Amino acid sequence: MIVGRVAHGKGQGGKIGFPTANLPIDCAQGVEYGVYAARAIIKGGCYPAVVNVGAHPTLPEGAPSVEAHILDESAELYGEELALELLAYLRSERKFESVAQLGRQIASDVDAARQICARHIGE
Ligand SMILES: Cc1cc2nc3c(=O)[nH]c(=O)nc-3n(C[C@H](O)[C@H](O)[C@H](O)COP(=O)(O)O)c2cc1C
Repeated sequence: MIVGRVAHGKGQGGKIGFPTANLPIDCAQGVEYGVYAARAIIKGGCYPAVVNVGAHPTLPEGAPSVEAHILDESAELYGEELALELLAYLRSERKFESVAQLGRQIASDVDAARQICARHIGE
């Protein structure tokens, strides 16, 4: 479980088409860098999510961070407490040739996370 308060990111996630809620990397001590399917608990709701923990080498500006794209929730989350229950490790981080390629990979991460979260419903 990664728990923290949502901070401002670099604002690039929205441009890729996958806006993210960012947490400081210290919230994820001991967590291996990579991409995870997760359940996000925020503002009393529970949503599927995809989470990147690491240095985001395609857009390397900025410090390593935890970035969660929360499915089915588009509210303003800045400043809210966010808990991420990591359900499955999907893949390691990669440096993509273009932002468009990264976007296509994240779309497939989203599909995988939806399936994994559906299997965990009710737990
Ligand atoms: C599910 C997911 C997977 C990601 N995978 C990678 C990756 O493999 N390589 C990479 O460089 N960045 C990856 N990113 C990070 C994006 O580059 C990041 O969201 C982008 O830098 C926007 O950051 P910002 O919200 O702080 O602006 C991923 C982000 C998400 C949400």
